[in-house]
Amino acid sequence: MTLSKHRSRQIYCLLIACTLFSHSTFQSEAAEQVCVVASVRPLATDAGIAAFEQGGNAVDAAVATALTLGVVDNHNSGLGGGCFILIRRSDGTLLAIDGREKAPAAATRDMFLRDGKADPELSTMGPLAVGVPGALAAYDLALKKCGLKTLGELLLPAAEIAEHGFPIDRNYAGKLADKAQFLAKFAGSRAALLKLDGSAYDEGEVLRQPDLARSYRKMAEHGPDWFYRGEFAAQVGQWMAENGGILTAEDFADYRAVERTPIVTTYRNWKVIGFPPPSSGGVHVAQILNMLETFDIRAEHKQNSIHATHLIVEAMKLAFADRAHWLGDADFVPVPQGLIDKNYAKSLAKRIHPDRTGEVPAHGNPPGAAAKFFGQHTTHIAAADSGGTWVAITATVNTSFGSKVIVPGTGIVLNNEMDDFSSQPGVPNAFGLLGAENNAVAPGKRPLSSMSPTIVCDSSGEPVLTVGAAGGPKIITQVLLTLVRCLDLEMKLDDAIAAPRYHHQWRPDHVLVEAALPQTIVDGLKCRGHCIETIDSSGVSQAIGIDAGGKLLGVHDPRIPGKVGRGVRTERE
Ligand code: GLY
Repeated sequence: MTLSKHRSRQIYCLLIACTLFSHSTFQSEAAEQVCVVASVRPLATDAGIAAFEQGGNAVDAAVATALTLGVVDNHNSGLGGGCFILIRRSDGTLLAIDGREKAPAAATRDMFLRDGKADPELSTMGPLAVGVPGALAAYDLALKKCGLKTLGELLLPAAEIAEHGFPIDRNYAGKLADKAQFLAKFAGSRAALLKLDGSAYDEGEVLRQPDLARSYRKMAEHGPDWFYRGEFAAQVGQWMAENGGILTAEDFADYRAVERTPIVTTYRNWKVIGFPPPSSGGVHVAQILNMLETFDIRAEHKQNSIHATHLIVEAMKLAFADRAHWLGDADFVPVPQGLIDKNYAKSLAKRIHPDRTGEVPAHGNPPGAAAKFFGQHTTHIAAADSGGTWVAITATVNTSFGSKVIVPGTGIVLNNEMDDFSSQPGVPNAFGLLGAENNAVAPGKRPLSSMSPTIVCDSSGEPVLTVGAAGGPKIITQVLLTLVRCLDLEMKLDDAIAAPRYHHQWRPDHVLVEAALPQTIVDGLKCRGHCIETIDSSGVSQAIGIDAGGKLLGVHDPRIPGKVGRGVRTERE
């Protein structure tokens, strides 16, 4: 590291100084390699650390964590779903892998309408809700491009957990109890996830998934072809044909994970790397930061934290109005690059009234809107190693247990990502999000996502922070708030993640605030005309930064039990 790089990293370290770890620095011990992983499940974090300690890097660790989450956290993510992977390699190059689900070839624009009206049940549960899963293809591509391990090596330990089972915690038991009546509608899901009498497992009981273990072992033996061109695709295609679905084995065979060009913008002196469409996250995190850059948020916050919160909420609202209109799969529809233009952000920021909330009747008009375009319950994994590889994976099956469908004998929960399309203009999806023509259903199209894996580098290009989240559209605002709190307000990373959050998504026109947000801020927002709704939790973020000693520092969201793991490997000379 050059002196200037070291200095700028040190400056950042001071900003997020924290003392979770007391081990020696990775800079001072050349032979010692370190990897940090943060995820929502201890077993998954442990699998990631084991992959590193057995010779892998941060990419292997992150993928091992993701594969294990598909066993122990399959209501949130798994191989029946999709993901976005953002990687900063040790040589500084970037890789963005799009493993987002796709609509089946037989999908049609109006497939979720009945008697001219959107029927949300069709897009959220059962055969029509399922998009072609992309997670496995993305993990495989990430390993091939940047990993040191094979997919098979990482699948087998997860298969062991599926076979021998794991005691479910309160969070999992709650999700299962909540969705048991819907899972019971599908024979495969009932057999895989419920007791013989159809009831849900309680906290502390052991869930064994022998079918899932078998599927993982088949993939370890035959590679992704077993899933995309073999037995699994055939089984799903047959089940769909027999149960009113449109997804076919050919849809699986046609699926490819795609390399995208990451969105790279600046926020003050930082370089912010985000995921491009079909994620809306990268665009709107950048857009909101661009608006905030026109204010001095740090000074505003010091002077009056209510005022700073008001500015951030108004910027969120303006960005989400644009999201509803402009965003969709850029392979299918024109998504203007002007959305992240600094001057466009200035023009939006000028609309923010300092003392009261403003009416945002519709989207804005970014420059080049007709000419320059971008070429989108969930979980986030953060991993980084001392070699300089940083990884952000956000993965999902959409809402809890996705479509609720497990095709008998497979153990794999299938997503309900089709609900992330706009079924009908003006009709909100499961997250209350509105969409327009750009996010209408079309064959082979990817539904718009809010998943926002993000990496921040300092001015010399050294990675200093990675963050991502679960929580539907609140993913975007969680990531934004973590960036603002670390980069502007100089909060410690763990404090930034723990601090109460707020969210505005344009429609409905209210600010969602976590109950712990100070009453003075809530009252101040009300005085400025904001409608307030209180929520228990805005979602779950995981992050990695660098502490004052230059060490990797992982943080998992305290809102649910998760785990940060730290692996150490001593390389022989
Ligand atoms: N399924 C949630 C998202 O991708 O935004």
